[in-house]
Order: sequence, then C-alpha cells, then structure tokens
Amino acid sequence: MCGIVAYVGPKDAAPILLEGLARLEYRGYDSAGLVISNKGLKMRKVKGRVADLAAVVPARFKGTLGIGHTRWATHGAPSDANAHPHLSTDERVAVVHNGVIENADELRAKLEADGAVFVSETDTEVLAHLIARTVEESDSLEEAVRTALKRVVGTYGIAVIDARRPGEVVVARNGSPIVLGIGEKEMFAASDVAALVRYTRQVVHLEDGELAVLRADGFTTFGGDARETAKEPLTVDWEAGHYDTGGYEHYLLKEISEQPETVARTLRGRLDDRFHIAHLGGLNMDARESRSFRRVKIIGCGSAYYSGQIGAQLIEELARIPADAEPASEFRYRSPVVEPDTLYVAISQSGETYDTLAAVQELKRKGGRVLGIVNTVGSAIARECDGGVYLHAGPEVSVASTKAFTSTAVAFALLALHLGRVRDLSPADGRRICEGLRRLPRQIEEVLALEPQIKELADKYADAASMMFVGRVRGYPVAREGAQKLKEISYVHAEAYPASELKHGPLALIGPETPTVAIVPDDELLDKNLTTLGEIRARGGRVLMVGHRTADPKLADDCVVVPRNEIELDPILLTIPLQLLAYHAAVALGRDVDKPRNLAKSVTVE
Ligand code: AGP
Repeated sequence: MCGIVAYVGPKDAAPILLEGLARLEYRGYDSAGLVISNKGLKMRKVKGRVADLAAVVPARFKGTLGIGHTRWATHGAPSDANAHPHLSTDERVAVVHNGVIENADELRAKLEADGAVFVSETDTEVLAHLIARTVEESDSLEEAVRTALKRVVGTYGIAVIDARRPGEVVVARNGSPIVLGIGEKEMFAASDVAALVRYTRQVVHLEDGELAVLRADGFTTFGGDARETAKEPLTVDWEAGHYDTGGYEHYLLKEISEQPETVARTLRGRLDDRFHIAHLGGLNMDARESRSFRRVKIIGCGSAYYSGQIGAQLIEELARIPADAEPASEFRYRSPVVEPDTLYVAISQSGETYDTLAAVQELKRKGGRVLGIVNTVGSAIARECDGGVYLHAGPEVSVASTKAFTSTAVAFALLALHLGRVRDLSPADGRRICEGLRRLPRQIEEVLALEPQIKELADKYADAASMMFVGRVRGYPVAREGAQKLKEISYVHAEAYPASELKHGPLALIGPETPTVAIVPDDELLDKNLTTLGEIRARGGRVLMVGHRTADPKLADDCVVVPRNEIELDPILLTIPLQLLAYHAAVALGRDVDKPRNLAKSVTVE
C-alpha cells in the first residue's frame, strides 16, 4: 500500500523518482508527489496517477537527492493537499509515509496548540511537524527522526529529508516495508524492490524498528536501541523486464499467459522421480519432524486464502492430516489456540500483507511452527517464518493475483506430496502426483488456447448485474477465486457458494438475470453437480459450466472444457478459465484492469 522511493547520488533525482514511482504505482494510485532538495525543498504533488505528476514536474527540476510517493488513501480523500510528501511549516523537513499513525489526532492537537499549521487531513503530516520540532537541536537527522518516532503509535515505512542536510535521506520501518538499494556511489530506498531493479540488484531489507541513513557513498543502519546493525546485502533475481507488459495490453493478461512457465519454475528441481517425493529444502524440517504434526492450519488473505483452501484439501487427501484454511485477517484477532503439534502455513505473494504478517508474528509469539509459501524473496513474511517454499513466479504487478495463485496451489501440492510420502501415501500415488504435476505446464497452455472462446463468453455474460459461482469440495475454492477475480477487476457483483448450499438459501437469487458459473470436474461428485445444474435451470437460471465434459444443453447454456489431470490437481487447471473470464469481462466493461478502483497490490495497513 503506497509506494515510496528515495534517491541520493550524483544523478538528477527527479527522473529516477518518477521511474521508481511508475514501477510502484500498483501499490497505490490515487495521488503522487515528490520533493527534491536543492538549496531548499522543491515539491510537486497531484491527485491522480504518476503520469499526471510527471506532467507537472518541470524539466528544470534539478537536484541529486529526493523522495517520492504514490498514495492509497487512508486518512483524507485523494487530493493535491493530501498527496505526499508532507512538509513542516517552515518547509525544512519533508516526509513520505506508508502505514497508519494511530495516535495522529492526539499528536495533531498538541502540535497545533504549539503553533504548527496543518494543510492536509493526513496522519502523515504530524510526522513532518514532529521531526521539525527536534531537528534544530538534534546532532543529526536520524536522531531527530528517532526522537519523533518515539511519540508515534502505529505502522510506518518513511523516508525523510532535511533541507539543511542536503546529502542524506533517513528511512525507517515499523510494519511497512522499506528496502535499500545499493548502487555505484549512489543509494536508493523504496517500499518494494520493483522500484530498484532497474538500477541495482543489491538490496538490504530493513527490519521493524530499524532506521537507516543513506548517503551517496553508502548507508548505515540502526536498531531500535540506536546502535548500528550489520546488514548483509541480498542479490535479487527479478529483472527490470519482469515489470514490463511484454507486448500484452495489460499486466494481468501477461501474468495469466505466463502460467505455463511460472508453474514450471515452482516445480523446478523439486520433484524426485526415483522415490516420487518432493524436495523442499527450505522447509528446514527432517522426515521425523515432518511426521510429527497432527494438524495443518493455513492462513492468508483474499486470493491467498482461497489458494490455501485448495492447499488444505490437497494435504487432507494426500497426507491424510486434518487441514483447514482461515483468513489471516480474522485469525490474528480471535486469540487462536496455538498447538505444538500443528503445522502453520502462511501464504503471501507479496510477503508484506500486514494482516498475514501480524498473524505470523502472533503465532511465533505463542511458539507456533510457521512455514511461509511466499513469492517475494527476502520479504517480511518470508523472513519471519521458520522455513517455507518460494514460488519463483516472478513479480506479480497487476493488482489481481493470478500466476501467484496457481503457483501457490502447486507449492501446496508439493508440500502435500512431501507430508504424504513421509506418512502413508504410497509410492504409486506419489508417482501419480509427480506425473500429474509435470503435465501441468503443457495442460495450462491448452487452457490458455481456449481464450477466444472465453472472450466470447465474457462478452456474453459481462452485462449480468450479478453472477453466482458454485463448486463442490475441490471445486469450491475455485469458485471462490473465480468470484473474487470477477468482482475485483470487472466490478460485477459475484457470490461464491458450495453447490451443495444453494438450496439452503441462495437459490432464491437465481433467475435469468443471475447467471451461474459452475465448476464441474469429472470427479466422484459429478452427478451431484449435474443435479445442482438441473435445479438452477429449473428456476430459469443461465449456466456456464467449467469442467471436463460438455453437458446436456438442458443443464448448461455454455461449457468450457479443460484437460483432465489427477483429480487432486484439477483445481489448478479449472481456475485459469475463470481468470480469463474476469479479464475479458473487465475489458468489455472498460475497467482499469491492472489498477481496479479502491484496491492496491500490497495491503500493508490493517
Ligand atoms: C487478489 O486478486 C487480491 N488482490 C488480494 O486478495 C490478495 O490476494 C491479498 O491481498 C493477499 O495478498 P498477498 O498474497 O500479497 O499476501
């Protein structure tokens, strides 16, 4: 949520900041701004996109140090005044901020009583005034920032500059990500490596409570106790090209189309054809420990949670361990019972989702053993977990998750295979799953080849006021993900239900105006699913069936037929037509596909 970029070095800062902000725009896109330090602070900020900001930054906006921000509003509506950066009244201190200052009202009242003049409704502006109060008598900017932050309750990733110290930027982190980028006689900082990879692959992630001072010739990091900390730079393998649309009209279509390759990357080097097992070295668990768990509890938010439901089903079926998934955002607030013989698994594409991170931290406080299924290497959730599985799906830029969803489901299949083979899963079943996983990339290509048909169906159904998505057992999380994709990018209302639950209430909604997308794999529940379709059709409902065979026209108006894999792995293939359906519905309705309204890619606030 919100993108932060900072630069100090020999080059002109403004183009670097604008380029970085454009890369981060998926984190928030309601307003943008930057400040350059050059004989005082020069600021431009606007309500709107980074392109709107670029249009008002004059060519002669020179200076080799600056900070920039792209916003997802929390306090105060999107407006020029509420856009970041925020300045102190004397325009000496500038701050950009990601997070929420919980005691902002109280601090604001005190600062106003003390003469500060506020010009925005944001919580962030209190930081600029607070730092300005101490910067004069402090020996350094970092000391002033540290003193100010002691008065703050809440979460933040911040970058701060002082007009009278034009060679340094101070950044600090508490709950919102900050990554440093190390260049040749230049330093960068950002809320996401996306803004850095064009300039450097050498990065340092700040931990919560840490603060760093950046100068052109390097950086120093400090812990919460103000002592210097030693940080080892990490080399990231994501490239600038990963952040281009690669000739596709939208990132979303590019990311959907990448899935044969991204699934192959999640599998690479992890399947053992001799013993029909999965090699997952990152779990940091031996066979004895892997056998010791009696339950598996999976947490994640939004689509990550739905992929966790697929994971729970895979673990129960293949490893025969009771498993269930729960939204991390709920789990963290309900004082969960943390059991020593439960394996906890946290899922996050970004590795920065605050609700998931907070749930992991709560689990760790209570002694829980937590694995992470994470896409972003070195991210906060990955660092917090005891071990895990990286997806290696490459950066996901579009706000709607697609390739991370399928790669997460594949990672769960590997985990289930691992947990199953150290228990009772037979070599024959292990082999069946290994072979099924190897078939996936080619079969995903076959599903992607259905795009012209799915586009036609999207055009046909996009004018529905509301759509119902139904599935049973393995198909239910697929239905939930299908509904989620449709609503977030096309804004068409969609509900997902277990097909078995329709007659217990939601059937009342069914009629010609509410089409149903039914997930109907060729599994042991086929007949029951077909009965449900009959019940929908009897009420005049239109049906789009996604499964393994075409249905009697009496039961379905339209059918999308995907290749069969093993029944446990079929949900992965069944999800992809729903991604394409949502994408083409959103395009047909003229939506902003990659940046849907009100949303942001990384939800790093509560
Ligand atoms: C997915 O399309 C959504 N944008 C959203 O539900 C997302 O999956 C969720 O916020 C979790 O994000 P994460 O995987 O980065 O933790």
